[in-house]
Amino acid sequence: MKPAVGKNFIGRKKVLKRIVNELADKKSANGFALYGKRRVGKTSILLEVKRRIRHKEKIILIYVSVWDLVEWKVDEFCEKIIAETVDAYKDRLGLPMKFEEMIKMPYSTIIGLLKKIELKAEITDLLTLALSFSKEEKKMKTGKMVDKAFTFPEKMAEKTKTKAILMIDEFPSVIELTNGKKAGYGIIGKIRTIHESYERTALCVSGSIMKTMENAILSPSSAFYGQLIPIYIPPLSIEETRELLKKNLRKRINEEGVKTVFELTKGFPLYVHGIGLRLLGEKKIGVKEIKAAFDAFLGEEGTLIFRREFYSYSSRERGIILQLARGLTGVTEIARALGDNPSTIGKLLSYLEEKGGVEKKDGQYRLVDPVFERWVNFYFD
Ligand SMILES: Nc1ncnc2c1ncn2[C@@H]1O[C@H](COP(=O)(O)OP(=O)(O)OP(=O)(O)O)[C@@H](O)[C@H]1O
Ligand SMILES: [Mg+2]
Repeated sequence: MKPAVGKNFIGRKKVLKRIVNELADKKSANGFALYGKRRVGKTSILLEVKRRIRHKEKIILIYVSVWDLVEWKVDEFCEKIIAETVDAYKDRLGLPMKFEEMIKMPYSTIIGLLKKIELKAEITDLLTLALSFSKEEKKMKTGKMVDKAFTFPEKMAEKTKTKAILMIDEFPSVIELTNGKKAGYGIIGKIRTIHESYERTALCVSGSIMKTMENAILSPSSAFYGQLIPIYIPPLSIEETRELLKKNLRKRINEEGVKTVFELTKGFPLYVHGIGLRLLGEKKIGVKEIKAAFDAFLGEEGTLIFRREFYSYSSRERGIILQLARGLTGVTEIARALGDNPSTIGKLLSYLEEKGGVEKKDGQYRLVDPVFERWVNFYFD
């Protein structure tokens, strides 16, 4: 389930070109907002963009994923941005070690070390600010912390005459971070204000949950509206699915096989991999073997992935998910099937939408992931 980069990364040519061209342009501070369903390959795209730009002179790449945070706290997030920024500049500045190690040393020792490498005074000041952040953060309000963290890459870029690219994976989830209480959409408004002053930093974000992406970035009433270039990341096309299969299976699959895999996986790369891995040992790869591989995948890896997701919902939400998986799409019919009242079901459905499992189109509700839907039917048969 690791993101695909380098030789493991396939397809996505147009979107990569578009993003890489813009970000590699030192005169541009335009950023992007990638959005798409869970497990569609957003992190892989961010990391592949990072890889492709990494040797460009005077461009510094910083990657932080909100979903990698352990405690989901505002200070943890802000410190992570500062730490990753310092590390991204490490080689350029000739820093002796990573931020995490610096911060463990006695303050005077590390200041002494910094003095030895003869940095410009302004840069030493910035690094001192970074190192003292974790000591001071406990006393800071959310706004102040966010301000310090998000202005840091811009200041570093300015003082080193570079361009910084700040990538934040699963960005809208920042609303879930806490500092005493939940940060909420206020934190996004704050980041937007700082972003407006960026001249040397391009912000690149991704998001899986359509509802929060809309509230934060895409809809005209959202804080970031018009500030980032939105790009929808669909599942792989059939051509890309073919490419991925041929690469994994060393070409041993015919067109009918490719079509079957595409229909079963809907082009989600993780599921294509899941089938591909199981077919590696097969002598013959036909429709029958592919379907068997998919069922085996659903039963094993599928259960590992989806059981966790399923049981992260409340029992009433799970009841609704079961009905959605069976093909019901309207509030009233789901309410009738569950013997509950429509207004309660309507509310629960909008929670499900906020959590990202369910989407609403033309008044109809549906599970976001077609393979999850299949698994629910398979598991609760
Ligand atoms: N372009 C690609 N080529 C090959 N494999 C890919 C590609 N994109 C994604 N994958 C594979 O699909 C899986 C999911 O990818 P990734 O983690 O990038 O998706 P995501 O959209 O960030 O998922 P999540 O919603 O869990 O954050 C991984 O196993 C990854 O290796
Ligand atoms: Mg991801």
